[in-house]
Amino acid sequence: MLGNLHTVVLVLALALAYVLATPTLPPVRPLVVWHGLGDSYNSPAMNRVMDEIRNVHKDIFIHSVYIDPKTDADEKAGWFGDLHEQLAMVAVQLAAVPELANGFDAIGFSQGGQFLRAYVEWYNTPRVHNLITFGSQHFGVSDIPGCRPRDVFCQLAHNAAKAGIYTTWAQHNLIQCQYYRDERRLETYLRQNTFMTSINNELPELRNETFKRNFVSLNNLVLVLFSREQTVVPKESSWFGSYAPRESNEDPTIIPMRLQQLYIEDWIGLRELDESGKVKLLTCDGEHMQLSTECLTPIVKKYVGGYTTSPRERPALVLQSS
Ligand SMILES: *[C@@H]1O[C@H](CO)[C@@H](O)[C@H](O)[C@H]1NC(C)=O
Repeated sequence: MLGNLHTVVLVLALALAYVLATPTLPPVRPLVVWHGLGDSYNSPAMNRVMDEIRNVHKDIFIHSVYIDPKTDADEKAGWFGDLHEQLAMVAVQLAAVPELANGFDAIGFSQGGQFLRAYVEWYNTPRVHNLITFGSQHFGVSDIPGCRPRDVFCQLAHNAAKAGIYTTWAQHNLIQCQYYRDERRLETYLRQNTFMTSINNELPELRNETFKRNFVSLNNLVLVLFSREQTVVPKESSWFGSYAPRESNEDPTIIPMRLQQLYIEDWIGLRELDESGKVKLLTCDGEHMQLSTECLTPIVKKYVGGYTTSPRERPALVLQSS
């Protein structure tokens, strides 16, 4: 009896010491970020964004996705490579980070946004809670923007693409060609493309229910469009809009998200997410990736760094009642 009492007192004392010694809140959910084209995972710009996020959530763990740990090679991998291979590498990379094991929020910048969506649909182990994309191309692009002066990778990629965006070679070696969706040549796109058609479940014979199941498991899908966007054509792609199919000499018209066949027939679960109020269509003022603190901070406050709620993630302190 006495021994038992001692044990109870000891356990309570330890519990009290634990409560006094540790902060009462569990750690905030970690974050994964994926940079955009012409950028790399540890560039000054990416470090600035990560610092801004840490200004909002002080101790948040952030992992910046890379294809290559060497900065130059990582930037080059935004132009050259096969997205199926890159995503397979990233899935291995994320699964190996212990801090991410219970899931994470994810922010994709520009093309990094649709790549993170591919991660969610194809892998999602560990799972993504909130997916936030800034100026991304969820319905592809129907124009390839010009290069900045002296951007050698861009010029190389452009020259290579001139030989034909929908050649099998380009579709497996040039990144932008893998999300180039030409509404003037939809049949060629549907026949040759294996990335965009996959993440949008566009081909009936290849439609995959796993992609949909993974995608609808998101807590929130936050899609940010830049009001003065000129790089992404059409800019509505950031909100799952696209140009309607047309002849080359006709003017383009936009199909907005809720009128897409993808949405109406719910090929990927976008409609289900939207009807549960989980799709947030936001606008930030500015040109492509002119990401101001005023735009970033409220979004990061609201959708990043939530406290983890699944049973495994609760703090270890549990007082047994028996
Ligand atoms: C669907 O996708 C999952 C996950 O990528 C894959 O394991 C599975 O083989 C795919 N199913 C079909 C029928 O292609």
